[in-house]
Amino acid sequence: MIDLLYRAARPAFRLIDPERAHRLAIRALASGIVRTGSPPDDPVLRCRVWGRELPNPIGLAAGFDKHAEVPDELLRLGFGLVEIGTVTPRPQPGNPKPRLFRLTEDEAVINRNGFNSEGLEVYVRRLAGRGRAAGFLGANLGKNKETEDAAADYVAGIAATAPLADYLVVNVSSPNTPGLRDLQGRAAMERLVRACQEARAQAVPEPGRRPPLLVKLAPDLDEAGLEDAAEVALSTGLDGLIMGNTTLSRPADLRSPHRGETGGLSGQPLRDLATRKLADLYRLTEGRLPLVGAGGVASGADAYAKIRAGASLVQLYSALVYEGPGLVRRIKHDLAALLRRDGFASVQDAVGADHRP
Ligand code: FNR
Repeated sequence: MIDLLYRAARPAFRLIDPERAHRLAIRALASGIVRTGSPPDDPVLRCRVWGRELPNPIGLAAGFDKHAEVPDELLRLGFGLVEIGTVTPRPQPGNPKPRLFRLTEDEAVINRNGFNSEGLEVYVRRLAGRGRAAGFLGANLGKNKETEDAAADYVAGIAATAPLADYLVVNVSSPNTPGLRDLQGRAAMERLVRACQEARAQAVPEPGRRPPLLVKLAPDLDEAGLEDAAEVALSTGLDGLIMGNTTLSRPADLRSPHRGETGGLSGQPLRDLATRKLADLYRLTEGRLPLVGAGGVASGADAYAKIRAGASLVQLYSALVYEGPGLVRRIKHDLAALLRRDGFASVQDAVGADHRP
């Protein structure tokens, strides 16, 4: 039903400015016009991550629901996990509009939003008042543009959200906040992760109840950068890594007139780059911590490729813009069929399969 509605509305959506279309989608979800709710997932999709059960490994990536307006509605679309944010401690407007571009011919998106955020206070109030739809809710944390002491902003985010989230993400990979990606360097990342772990311990004193802490990385990291991130992750006892965020690179074969816009590129042209970097991370971390694969996932086969490359969980955003909410069900259906075809009894069994002889 959602699919039919979406297909009917899609041509009209395409005529609307992308940021306005996005606001309309959020409003439709919030108002209940879009009836959410999905059938139980195929048992082969069930996974166990960080000691907890999840109905399926398909997640919504950060950036769609930046202000925590519709987390439960999104989970009820059938996602196993939904990541909310990026939120900055204080409200900030982000970059001037237009800052979001559809690259229709390339099934891609470029954004230079620059962390437009309603701020932590509103975000936390909404999370505290939410229902409890099944699945993981991730809180994705950032820093204000003007903040000099970056760690202080992430610590504030963790202190406020750790009691309310199923996992926490330190986003140091958005390309639209000056200097942010420097926090991926070895020394900076190690300091930051330790400060965040301490903040989490203070916010949630009981060790067994602390949400896992992840760092979200850029697909533009080179081998040395990936090595640094992997080593910090292992030495600090980080709970996971996300590969990855949008890319600053521009493949030569992009066709859309918007291809020259400044910002982070996502969607189909990012897919193989992000999967390669994910596989590198899996190799460098020796499969010792859960990885989340994002970038260009638009089908069950794409999700399966991320899992085989080393992802325990998969996320998407851009494909939703082109395919609508029915995509989640199609991806899950096709992923289950692919797992069975290759003789895997569960998602876990397939994680990192490409690395085994
Ligand atoms: C994003 N992404 C993103 N990531 C993040 O950590 N914080 C954010 O606020 C945002 N904002 C955002 C806005 C828009 C419009 C897009 C398209 C993307 C990145 C997103 O979470 C994801 O990592 C990449 O887009 C790659 O996945 P897809 O879109 O190729 O499936």
